[in-house]
Amino acid sequence: MTERVLSIDGFLHGGDYNPEQWQAMPEILERDIALMQEAHINTVTVGMFSWAALEPQEGDYHFEWLDQVFDRIEAIGGHVILATPSGARPAWMAKKYPEVLRTDEYGHHLEFGERHNHCFTSPIYRAKVAQINRLLAERYGQRQGLLLWHVSNEYGGECHCALCRAAFQDWLKARYGTLGKLNTAWNTAFWSHTYDTWNEIIPPSPTSDSTLNGLNLDWRRFVSDQTMAFYQNEIGPLRAITPDVPITTNFMADTANMLPFHGLDYQKFAKQVDVVSWDCYPQWHNDQESDAVMAMKVSMINNYYYHLKNQPFLIMESTPSQVNWHPFNRAKRPGMHELSSLQLVSEGADSVLYFQLRQSRGASEQFHGAVIGHDGSDQNRVFQAVTKVGADLQQLQPVVHASKVPGRIAIVYNQESNWALDDAKDFAQSTKRYWQTLQDHYAYFWMRNIPVDVVTTDADLNAYQMVIDPMHYMMSEAWMTKLKAYVQGGGTVVGTYLSGIVDKRTLAYLGGWPKPLQDIYGLKVLETDTLYPKQKNGTVLNDQLFVFKDYCAVVKDQGATTLVQYTKDFYADTPAVTRNKFGQGTSYFQAARGGADFLTAFYDRVLAEVGIDTEHLVKADQGVSVQQRQSGDKLFTFVMNFTQAEATYQLQQTSTDLLGQKTLPPGDHRLPGYGVAVFQSDRK
Ligand code: GLA
Ligand code: ZN
Repeated sequence: MTERVLSIDGFLHGGDYNPEQWQAMPEILERDIALMQEAHINTVTVGMFSWAALEPQEGDYHFEWLDQVFDRIEAIGGHVILATPSGARPAWMAKKYPEVLRTDEYGHHLEFGERHNHCFTSPIYRAKVAQINRLLAERYGQRQGLLLWHVSNEYGGECHCALCRAAFQDWLKARYGTLGKLNTAWNTAFWSHTYDTWNEIIPPSPTSDSTLNGLNLDWRRFVSDQTMAFYQNEIGPLRAITPDVPITTNFMADTANMLPFHGLDYQKFAKQVDVVSWDCYPQWHNDQESDAVMAMKVSMINNYYYHLKNQPFLIMESTPSQVNWHPFNRAKRPGMHELSSLQLVSEGADSVLYFQLRQSRGASEQFHGAVIGHDGSDQNRVFQAVTKVGADLQQLQPVVHASKVPGRIAIVYNQESNWALDDAKDFAQSTKRYWQTLQDHYAYFWMRNIPVDVVTTDADLNAYQMVIDPMHYMMSEAWMTKLKAYVQGGGTVVGTYLSGIVDKRTLAYLGGWPKPLQDIYGLKVLETDTLYPKQKNGTVLNDQLFVFKDYCAVVKDQGATTLVQYTKDFYADTPAVTRNKFGQGTSYFQAARGGADFLTAFYDRVLAEVGIDTEHLVKADQGVSVQQRQSGDKLFTFVMNFTQAEATYQLQQTSTDLLGQKTLPPGDHRLPGYGVAVFQSDRK
């Protein structure tokens, strides 16, 4: 694939802008441009939901308002990120071609309204989208201001119309070739679900089938693939007319717990975009966890999305203040906007973009935070905080394009396995917590500022000293082979309960725990006990008592060394945590789920045993995050205080503070609550 990089020499600062909502008030555009300059804004993202303004009647196009935006932005030397409008469509289209809208899982065909509710298969919608995209590319493809294509908006959801059903059947035909293979893969002999013809297969729904795991998983895969096929249709004309302009589509995360969006396989999707971008809306200052914990969760998503392509990503949306759709929409405390924005940059973002530049006057997002509020003022707290970030980003110019300092430790996440585990009828739905368990492991490293990479199963494991692979429920044989070679060659792996149970079809592995895993870990998993929330088991490690909860696997060692045993129940005194030498490498297995205290004791010991060097790291108080990017012979160190109290950190070498423009000697320094400092130093 041709490499298309963003041609920028500084950070992008700006965001979603909707001048089509202000066409009756032309003075607004002029005022906004002046305010943007004042806030050091250099980028606008336009066109996301503009189809009705672009094509108010079929074939009747109006681009003048958009031409004006390009003219004004180019006049101030800014960038335009141009969106394709497929996320919402004009009323005439829905009326004339009802098939462009989705059918829900109950078979209800949707009527006009809302957004993000189009059929991904409809040939008419695909043709309409390709047509408007072609016109946009022809008209704006050569504009100097055009930086990047923003394809559609936050793809997600599914459609159950007849067209999608037929496409699903075709997708299955291509995947399995014969119905015999499909019937085996889904184990359809169960409950007489055997299919005789392809068109008997119906997507899972509450009115058809929701209990056939293989069907459920393949439907998720299909929905994800069909979304990508729709995306490919969108980008056809863009690639043809503007082959050098990079393309992205904005990815999402579930904000309550900062989980990767569940509906799409981003591991696959990322290969089809030139640059990954995502929309980041953390619930800062909530009443359940500290800002530091929230920062850790955001960090993990940044980390994962960075490693989807191993390159800097864009923050396509974030809020300058609060959103309007969290359960409680808190304002950011003073300092938090700067801190939370620079956190994104510290973890590999080359932009701080907002939803939205100007607040809508009406409709559902009228009270969502914006750079320019209803008061139209540059004097309010939000505008000033945004202006500060704009000024910071200018000071940080040398950091743009810099890569993240690579970790020596990797944590593996697999979206397909998440789907499969989520759907498995066993264990306990409320305690599976796959990503949250990875967060528990990630937290150990984040709190100590030990660089760790969150990676997919595509990662080159040999780049790492240690690979942490928890709860890998649906594990392919290819992954087992890869892991085995890695450990054999000298790597260290950490595995856990609920791993290696089903294959890529969701069929259980036969004959006990898979042989390659038995070899790696030197043990066999015999059974898994699921505990009720109030039930606990435990262990003793370094003379300290630790609690196990939720899952306790009973294992039989076959050469592994038992590090600790269970204290209770019929599996008392059997191995709970083991270590095994395999080939040149080492494996650790956590048969049960421990809490943060257990993970701390465990990783303290493992890091010492593996010899992971933490000496050279920047030391800082609890709640202070240190993240580093590097470029050429320069190292950029971000020190961020996610607590309200003043905190201390320690510089190891003379460093230049890029924000304060001063040079600090090695030794202890102080950061105010919610403070952030960014240092440039020489790479050793
Ligand atoms: C999403 C959408 C935006 C807007 C914001 C509000 O991320 O992409 O159009 O609705 O949420 O936070
Ligand atoms: Zn459909």
